[in-house]
Amino acid sequence: MSKVTRVVIPAAGLGTRFLPATKAQPKEMLPVVDKPAIQYVIEEAIRNDLNNILVVTGRGKRSIEDHFDQSFELEQLLIESGRDADLELVRAISKLGTIHYIRQGRPLGLGHAVLAAKAHVGSEPFVTMLADDIMAENSDLLSNMLALHDTTGCSVLSLMEVPREQIRLYGCAEVVQKGDGTVQVVSVVEKPEPSEAPSTLAITGRYLFTPEIFGAIEATPSGKNGEFQLTDAIARLSQTQPVLGVIFDRGRYDIGDKLEYLRAVVEIALGREDIGPAFAAELRGILAREFQTS
Ligand code: UTP
Repeated sequence: MSKVTRVVIPAAGLGTRFLPATKAQPKEMLPVVDKPAIQYVIEEAIRNDLNNILVVTGRGKRSIEDHFDQSFELEQLLIESGRDADLELVRAISKLGTIHYIRQGRPLGLGHAVLAAKAHVGSEPFVTMLADDIMAENSDLLSNMLALHDTTGCSVLSLMEVPREQIRLYGCAEVVQKGDGTVQVVSVVEKPEPSEAPSTLAITGRYLFTPEIFGAIEATPSGKNGEFQLTDAIARLSQTQPVLGVIFDRGRYDIGDKLEYLRAVVEIALGREDIGPAFAAELRGILAREFQTS
């Protein structure tokens, strides 16, 4: 088991790519089938023994805390009406462990959100998981990152090849292969123009940081729109200590993007034992009708 137990989950952003749904409700609470996105992320953390959980929230994010809290009235109603299965579901959420919360104040970027966790994390390595990036349940990305950190003591990024025209949506990492089969990050750049990107490796929503990332964020000036970019701080960190990468190619959904959200709902629903077969039949019917008429 990895020695890393701390995880920071930034969830204070404005979610503007998913308006109007996110005007008055957190993007992290958008349901994917029947569970809010952030619950998938917290369940993934717990599967990987990351039990010391800090969620960074902000204005309008109260429903996140309510969701993971005990819901006495609802439990009472379910007990009285004998709905044992639903009661079990509701109780399981509040038993996911102790979740701590801190507020970001103003959403001044991902770097700023991670920095809000400094006092909580202290001088330990920690994982950061973006609350709008969900991973398929059988993904071994996070466990591979933890294993790499355990053998090297280094920070580790999750990296995924994307089509060149999409690299402008991500932090981009240039890497070199090391003799032991791992990759080391040699440069990172935030949202490059495709023609100028040093690679097509996108930095995705799982990070494992040594505590020196905090100093790197503090030393990094704000960029566009006054935001403190985590990517810029990672660039700084990589100049003072090795930053490694784990490259993966499947099982990730950025539910902050409307199309990826829809893909997440469809694929996760199809994979569910309870509703998967019935949903597959529905979907076949819809597709047959759509493609018959077009
Ligand atoms: P995103 O960049 O995807 O989130 O950040 P956003 O800014 O909310 O979304 P758009 O681009 O406007 O649609 C990834 C994660 O980091 C959090 C978000 O809540 C999201 O879970 N975040 C982002 C913060 O906690 N604070 C910030 O200042 C920015």
